[in-house]
Amino acid sequence: MKTIIRLPGESLPESYYDVRFEILRKPLGSQKGSERLDGDDLAIHSWIADNEKVAAVGRAHLIPADADGSAFDQKAKSACPAFGPLSADYEPIADDSGLEIPTDGLRPAVQVRAMGTLDEYQGQGLASKVLTSLEKESVNLWEAKTGWLQARIIAIPFYEANGWCCFGPEYDVPNVGAHVSMWKKF
Ligand SMILES: CC(C)(COP(=O)(O)OP(=O)(O)OC[C@H]1O[C@@H](n2cnc3c(N)ncnc32)[C@H](O)[C@@H]1OP(=O)(O)O)[C@@H](O)C(=O)NCCC(=O)NCCS
Repeated sequence: MKTIIRLPGESLPESYYDVRFEILRKPLGSQKGSERLDGDDLAIHSWIADNEKVAAVGRAHLIPADADGSAFDQKAKSACPAFGPLSADYEPIADDSGLEIPTDGLRPAVQVRAMGTLDEYQGQGLASKVLTSLEKESVNLWEAKTGWLQARIIAIPFYEANGWCCFGPEYDVPNVGAHVSMWKKF
C-alpha cells in the first residue's frame, strides 16, 4: 500500500474520483459527476493505492482568510454551514472535550472533505493514513494551525481516534444527513 499526495493544481486520476463517487455519493442516490467538488483544483489530495487500485481518499483545502467555511454545494444540493469559531462574531465556546476554542491562533485553517475508504478496505487504518498525510501536507504547504470538518455521525469515532474533537450541536446537511462539526489543533 502506498500513500500518494497531489498538491493544488496537480492532476488526479479518474480512479480517485471513482472511489469518492462509490463511497460518498452513490449511496445517496447522487449522479456521477456529483463527486467533483468546487475547489478540487485548489486542494491537497491524498489517497492510498493498493498496487494500481485506489482504496481510500480524502482532500484538504485552505479556508480563505476572510471566510468562515460556509459554502453551498450546487451538485449535491447541500450546504456547509459556517464553522462558528472562524466567524467574525464568534463568542468562545467549549468543544466536547471541555476545551475552550480560542478566538485567535486558528488560522491558517484548512477544511477536510470527501474522506472515504472502499468497503473491502475499511478497518485497516487506511483513512487514518490519508487524514494524517492531509494534516501534515497542510502544515507544510500552508502552515495550517487548525483543521475543520463536518462529520457524518457514523464517522465521528474515526475522527476522534485521530485526535479531532466535536463542537456545537448536531445539524442536518440536506441530502446527506446528520452531521457534527469537528476541529483539531495541528
Ligand atoms: C469513516 C471511514 C472513512 C473510516 O475509514 P477506515 O479506513 O475504515 O478507517 P481506519 O481503519 O483508518 O480507522 C481508524 C480508527 O478509527 C476508528 N473507527 C473507524 N471506523 C469506525 C467505526 N465505524 N466505528 C468506530 N470506530 C471507528 C477506529 O478507532 C479505528 O481504529 P482501529 O481499527 O484500530 O479500531 C470509512 O468508514 C468510510 O469511508 N465511511 C463511509 C464514508 C464516510 O462516512 N466518510 C466520512 C464522511 S464525514
